[in-house]
Amino acid sequence: MSTRDWDAATYHQISAPQQAWAREQLERLELRGDEVVCDAGCGSGKVTAMLAELVPNGRVYAVDVAPSMVEHTQALLGERVRAFCQDLTELSLPEPVDAIFSNATFHWIADHAKLFAALAGALKPGGQLVAQCGGFGNIDAFRILADEVAATGEFAPYFTDWHGPWNYARADITAERLEAAGFIDIQTWLEPRPTVIEEPESFVRTVCLVRHLDLLPEELHESFIRAVLARSGTPLTLDYVRLNIVARRGGEGR
Ligand SMILES: C[S@@+](CC[C@H](N)C(=O)[O-])C[C@H]1O[C@@H](n2cnc3c(N)ncnc32)[C@H](O)[C@@H]1O
Repeated sequence: MSTRDWDAATYHQISAPQQAWAREQLERLELRGDEVVCDAGCGSGKVTAMLAELVPNGRVYAVDVAPSMVEHTQALLGERVRAFCQDLTELSLPEPVDAIFSNATFHWIADHAKLFAALAGALKPGGQLVAQCGGFGNIDAFRILADEVAATGEFAPYFTDWHGPWNYARADITAERLEAAGFIDIQTWLEPRPTVIEEPESFVRTVCLVRHLDLLPEELHESFIRAVLARSGTPLTLDYVRLNIVARRGGEGR
């Protein structure tokens, strides 16, 4: 689990790629409009707002482990949503939900078996899981560059025990884990999504390098970002690979 917080206000401004992916995923949900739904890893609330539009007569729960994200989502959506600060591996909602949606979040969670068991436990029997996260091979080239910079000069002492927190899972292993957690009608697949980043400095500071920067003193943040971007080429194009997940919780009620 990552207990580190995020810069919710900046994330809200620069997360256009994540919003574009979410818009596509939301089309995979089958909703009448009166369901109880959960945005798992809600971030700053922009995607939660899109989800809420799909259930005008339903209820929306939003969950994130980062306090700043939860506050931002609650402030953005007011009474339309109830936002909770929780680790998704220990998800506990006020009632069973019809659908769980999640975008760009599961790769931040090391234990997918525990995650999927918690999601299954939060769903009604027959309830939908539609999710997308970073998958196997996600931004490999950028991460290799960042690790090379981290291993040099003044940065190196701060990264002696560095292991990135990301869990970029394969599609077949993910399907097995979902089945073990009690899901049925499972579809999982990887999808390359190379993406040109419009505001590279803010984007890598807030998203791709956020956990690297946690380890560095403030006075080295700018030089680290500059050094990584100098090696990355212009325009910055990240070789995103997304892992798509569509499944239902087994049991009655479909
Ligand atoms: C890249 S953001 C995606 C936010 C939003 N879903 C979107 O598409 O814009 C990843 C989010 O996952 C959250 N997160 C990471 N690990 C988590 C965990 N174990 N439980 C709940 N949320 C987690 C982070 O705090 C962050 O808000």
